[in-house]
Amino acid sequence: MAKSKLTFICQACGAVYTRWQGKCESCGEWNTIVEENASGGIGGGPQRGSRRKGRPSALLPLSGEIEEAPRIVSGIDELDRATGGGIVRGSAILIGGDPGIGKSTLLMQAAAALARRGNSVVYVSGEEAVAQVRLRAQRLQAADTDVMLMAETNVEDILATLAEAKRPDLLIIDSIQTLWSDFAESAPGTVTQVRAGVQALVKYAKSSGSAVILVGHVTKDGQIAGPRVVEHMVDAVLYFEGEGGHHFRILRTVKNRFGPTDEIGVFEMGGEGLREVANPSELFLGERNAKSPGAAVFAGMEGTRPVLVEIQALVAPSALGTPRRAVVGWDQPRLAMVLAVLDAHCGVRLGQHDVYLNVAGGFRISEPAADLAVAAALVSSLSGAPLPSDCVYFGEVSLSGAVRPVAHAAQRLKEAEKLGFSRSVLPDSTADLPKSPGMRVEAVEALPDLVAKVAAGGAIPGSGEEA
Ligand code: TYD
Ligand code: MG
Repeated sequence: MAKSKLTFICQACGAVYTRWQGKCESCGEWNTIVEENASGGIGGGPQRGSRRKGRPSALLPLSGEIEEAPRIVSGIDELDRATGGGIVRGSAILIGGDPGIGKSTLLMQAAAALARRGNSVVYVSGEEAVAQVRLRAQRLQAADTDVMLMAETNVEDILATLAEAKRPDLLIIDSIQTLWSDFAESAPGTVTQVRAGVQALVKYAKSSGSAVILVGHVTKDGQIAGPRVVEHMVDAVLYFEGEGGHHFRILRTVKNRFGPTDEIGVFEMGGEGLREVANPSELFLGERNAKSPGAAVFAGMEGTRPVLVEIQALVAPSALGTPRRAVVGWDQPRLAMVLAVLDAHCGVRLGQHDVYLNVAGGFRISEPAADLAVAAALVSSLSGAPLPSDCVYFGEVSLSGAVRPVAHAAQRLKEAEKLGFSRSVLPDSTADLPKSPGMRVEAVEALPDLVAKVAAGGAIPGSGEEA
């Protein structure tokens, strides 16, 4: 046995320290550094020390035969879309998310769908007993499928069991935090154990050709290692997200060696599990009150799909010395930038106002194209003038106050028209615009033009003097 050495590892990002400290300098999290015995890991441990001479490998040219990655398609469109057209055989996929968000539900439904299409699926549950998994399967109407269950947490035992049986098309591990390997000495859930377990399973995926889906809980308190510490080891990383209190769940791809990374799958959690949402815009705009000021509809893109969402702003005089800026579903620095541009170039002063910004429906926007819609919502809230209810906004605002074009204008407009919108405010230099009689296009060159447009529907208290 190799000499064991104590190290301190951040459970959130995996940074290694020689002594304990309260804050991780690498990721900035507090109280996430835990003492671990770092010896071992697959390939380490007993073999370590016995040096092997290197074996020459083949050098290959860049050009040559390419095989299309064979995929298993679940038939759940939103899942297939997020994985880039199906799960690639022999690949390892990590699905991360907050506890209770619905990862086990999603994977049980996926397992059942794949089994119905004739694929063999093994579901390894380390968190729940077989009876619990069966109960959920019953609720999801998946109990009649040939999915095989295993309640096991030891990696070597899992692999030994699989070696006995027929090689499955898909292996689901729920979750990586319960895995432990004989070769690593730390407690289950620590970075060393999670990495050792995932490494062994990724190796199994490559050598057997089975696809492996690994579930990882996002952790806040650092007691157990989060999915981030194994992101680099797997072929694809998807996060399952949603806001508490909302039924929408979004499966977001953040890394994919076999497909695009900006795709999302949208689901709705109901009494019988997750339901696919084929048209998310209808859902996000569902409960809209078009008459209230401060609401603007943003025509966004998520991957290849246009998504319309409502952006809500509330601007109110502040009672505090430092006014509040609260953002849900968008970027805080980005809001600060839009506020600064409104102040510097448009004379819209919000220095004495609290600003609240919310993206409706628990959706999260990552595009800068939302700048224009945010600015419109802010000005509308400040002036008390509602925006036209049949109008969508998109465009990026630069620090000079210019409104810059964004990609996929045609697709955004088409989706807006489909949902009954008939007006759009967009950057002046937008190319590839479709001519449609049902959609009136108002181009703005700079942010002051937008402010003037919004003000035309109501007075704007500008330049510091308030009514
Ligand atoms: P679960 O899949 O166990 O979450 P995770 O594996 O990510 O921890 O889902 C847990 C939540 O989903 C739980 O609060 C109950 C809810 N749920 C439904 O609303 N409907 C359903 O059909 C199922 C199975 C779960
Ligand atoms: Mg679970």
